[in-house]
Amino acid sequence: MLQFYQPQPDFGTPLRESEQTVSLTIDGVEVTVAEGTSVMRAAADAGVKIPRLCATDSLEPFGSCRICLVEIEGMRGKPASCTTPVADGMVVNTQSDQLAKVRRGVMELYISDHPLDCLTCPVNGDCELQDTAGEVGLREVRYGFEGANHLSADKDTSNPYFTFDASKCIVCSRCVRACEETQGTFALTIDGRGFDSKVSAGQDELFMDSDCVSCGACVDACPTATLTENSIIDAGVPEHSAITTCAYCGVGCSFKAELRGNTVVRMTPNKDGHANEGHSCVKGRFAFGYATHKDRITQPMVRDSIDQPWRKVSWEEAIAFTAARFRGIQEQHGRNSVGAITSSRCTNEEVYLVQKLVRAGFGNNNVDTCARVCHSPTGYGLKTTLGESAGTQTFASVAKADVVLIMGANPTDAHPVFASRMKRRLREGARLIVIDPRQIELVDTAHIRADYHLPVNPGTNVAILNALAYTIVEEGLQDSDFIADRCEEPAFAEWLAFIQEPQHSPEASAEFTGVDPELVRGAARLYATGGNSAIYYGLGVTEHSQGSTSVMAIANLAMLTGNLGREGVGVNPLRGQNNVQGSCDMGSFPHELPGYRHISDAATRSLFESHWGVSLDPDPGMRIPNMFNAAVAGEFRGLYCQGEDVAQSDPNTHHIEAALSSLDCLVVQDIFLNETAKFAHVFLPGSSFLEKNGTFTNAERRISRVRKVMPAQAGMEDWEVTQALANAMDCPMTYSHPSEIMDEIAALTPTFAGVSYERLDEQGSVQWPCNTESPTGTPIMHVDSFVRGKGYFGITEFVPTEERANRRFPLLLTTGRILSQYNVGAQTRRTANTVWHEEDVLEIHPHDAEQYGISEQDWVGISSRAGDTVLRAAISERVKPGVVYTTFHHPVSGANVVTTDNSDWATNCPEYKVTAVHVEKVAEPSQWQRRHREVHRLQTSLLAEAGRE
Ligand code: SF4
Ligand code: SF4
Ligand code: SF4
Ligand code: FES
Repeated sequence: MLQFYQPQPDFGTPLRESEQTVSLTIDGVEVTVAEGTSVMRAAADAGVKIPRLCATDSLEPFGSCRICLVEIEGMRGKPASCTTPVADGMVVNTQSDQLAKVRRGVMELYISDHPLDCLTCPVNGDCELQDTAGEVGLREVRYGFEGANHLSADKDTSNPYFTFDASKCIVCSRCVRACEETQGTFALTIDGRGFDSKVSAGQDELFMDSDCVSCGACVDACPTATLTENSIIDAGVPEHSAITTCAYCGVGCSFKAELRGNTVVRMTPNKDGHANEGHSCVKGRFAFGYATHKDRITQPMVRDSIDQPWRKVSWEEAIAFTAARFRGIQEQHGRNSVGAITSSRCTNEEVYLVQKLVRAGFGNNNVDTCARVCHSPTGYGLKTTLGESAGTQTFASVAKADVVLIMGANPTDAHPVFASRMKRRLREGARLIVIDPRQIELVDTAHIRADYHLPVNPGTNVAILNALAYTIVEEGLQDSDFIADRCEEPAFAEWLAFIQEPQHSPEASAEFTGVDPELVRGAARLYATGGNSAIYYGLGVTEHSQGSTSVMAIANLAMLTGNLGREGVGVNPLRGQNNVQGSCDMGSFPHELPGYRHISDAATRSLFESHWGVSLDPDPGMRIPNMFNAAVAGEFRGLYCQGEDVAQSDPNTHHIEAALSSLDCLVVQDIFLNETAKFAHVFLPGSSFLEKNGTFTNAERRISRVRKVMPAQAGMEDWEVTQALANAMDCPMTYSHPSEIMDEIAALTPTFAGVSYERLDEQGSVQWPCNTESPTGTPIMHVDSFVRGKGYFGITEFVPTEERANRRFPLLLTTGRILSQYNVGAQTRRTANTVWHEEDVLEIHPHDAEQYGISEQDWVGISSRAGDTVLRAAISERVKPGVVYTTFHHPVSGANVVTTDNSDWATNCPEYKVTAVHVEKVAEPSQWQRRHREVHRLQTSLLAEAGRE
């Protein structure tokens, strides 16, 4: 719900937690607070606001501005209330003539070196300096503006999202501390002393030339207009706001969307957001402009074949066209000839409706989700071993970890706000193990250095995980009590015999992994004996032919060492997109109904059948790769694709394009004409996260509200479109608001039984399971026993991938993400984030570059057995020799033209992370890239023709 804009409350200094309490009197009011609390915060608790400038409750107190002075009985002088801790029996006085005089004097000095342009200042009305001048009763500035001052200091406008206007800086250092404490980047310093001191990015560089990652924490922390969002400079301060959830990555940061009218002028991270606690990254805070980009398509379009111009039609016509096409296909080719793909970018409610439409309307189970190509092995591996397809912890749990093991993930780029939490813990002294073929930033960054980096060869994760387990068992470091108490005995005995086989030793497996056995042994000892050990992993674990085996091996390691069921430990998949967890929870795998219950289970089926009034097919439907194979074979002919861009994101582009071209009816629901839409017959305009209501579920199982803050540009929210299509296909749906969809999900899904919009409004967010046993949700899973009862040690035999380097394809290509871009880039490429990443490049080690005669910036042809593409070279020691690396954010890069259709044995998750390739210096784009450009030109002109009607 929209509310009048107000700055978020600020208690001056951070909350302290202690079982010991302290009572004191402030201005005659008795107050009891936790030991360690500052006098300033205790005063705020007593309803007394002490003026301040350098203090804010997201940062440790600093004590530099001297505005917050108080009098304390029995104490000499006037101590700063922000840096003075409370003591029992303390009597504090915050108001006196003396204090008022001192505060006014200090304020007068600040203002004498500050432009008095409040009326034309971009933050007029939303400025702490202005507020504080009022609070201390400043009435005159006696020093004049003639002497030395900073009033003509330069502005730094290098960052596309914020401006640094040094003339307004009061050198309170809040920005510097935010960059250190909150973000952990250490890009800012205070240069010089006394009057000459000034904020400096890097070595007195422009922000854009420094290490700044544009997270905006400094902008948020600045009490003046020195650091201000350009959107505020352009549009003015907001007048209303609503709490919503970021639509980018699986961290699921909570934001206040702040608006003037229907225009978002700022996204401010929500201090009460449990996933992010007031922090954000460049994407969530700044890259929201795509929602109103001129490329948005806001009217439905249809065409009979993909070489025809689009025809703009009404919603009614588009829905009737689609329903008739799908029914026609089913009549001619059978019930199973159509299906749908749901998206992890869409809300839970939208995903739920699409799978309901498929099961109850299409009458089959041909529904799959993009999680197929990212975290489906997590679902399989964690369900098999622990009993639930989800991560075990809260993000906050990392603050209790003593050892952090990161495998196949790059949190500073892909999960930046969680990375900042993790970095804070690592700076406090937690130890770090990184298992990754690439030297990710966390291996060696400001004030952090990994204790162990195991640069494993792509495709050998299972071998290295087995080697870690082997070492732990061989050296007797396992937690035998935990295993005896919590795990299935026969399975453990069998696994124990398996893992002790000599081929699993670090020495024997080094032949495959390429990792020094001593490093493996050291890492194993640290993980097993370092205290609370927590594993965080990403797509570098799952997107392999043995992705599911690796996830099981990770769970085995955690059970072996008793690192489950409490804070600071656990097994934590870092989900790529905002709602990967939710799209899986909502039953969008072809074999599972919502809540991961198998479609073959008669009792579950009958529950849904009686609620939906239909009979359900008991057989699992087609997975995405099966759909594409069946499309090429002419057996699958109609696809409803909501919010996904399979033509860019799925592997083996040639095959995907062949499949999409074979369809009789491809329906794409999206906000932009994406790569997949170029093969579509129906385009249903989607709504951005700012235009709809719903929920997302992040990597912690945390369900958070998405709130509509502006009208849907196309007139309908996505769930309304699916509902209209369902009704046109005789699958009645009568929801009037997404909250009713959530009520149905709760009624049919035991782990969601207690979830409702009322509860979400009340609590802010809820981590499932949320039901009668855990009415407010479940932060930590598997506390006393595993969801499946006893933990299961699965056998994790290492089977080398068929995708191996050979004489024809001597290098291994692996892929990943970059901070400024998101997935296929459809959103971030339509924002100023492109200044950081205009194109995908190929990272190659200097030795390999020399061997293949490649120099920095050269065009490099990359070919695999699936196809070939051309990228520019970036020579880098982040990758090891024999490995090359790229991202896939730009369609024309064609990274997935090169990736093969090898996939995980259990779930068909593609083996994106290992492709054997050949590289050579070339002079022109690949044939596919040339054809891609032609198709793009053709489809753009067919779209333009629709615009002319
Ligand atoms: S830029 Fe803002 S936060 Fe940083 S020192 Fe200056 S006034 Fe303080
Ligand atoms: S935007 Fe973030 S990274 Fe950049 S200087 Fe500010 S706090 Fe540091
Ligand atoms: S970390 Fe993820 S969820 Fe948070 S602001 Fe960035 S992209 Fe959004
Ligand atoms: S707020 Fe306490 S010294 Fe600045």
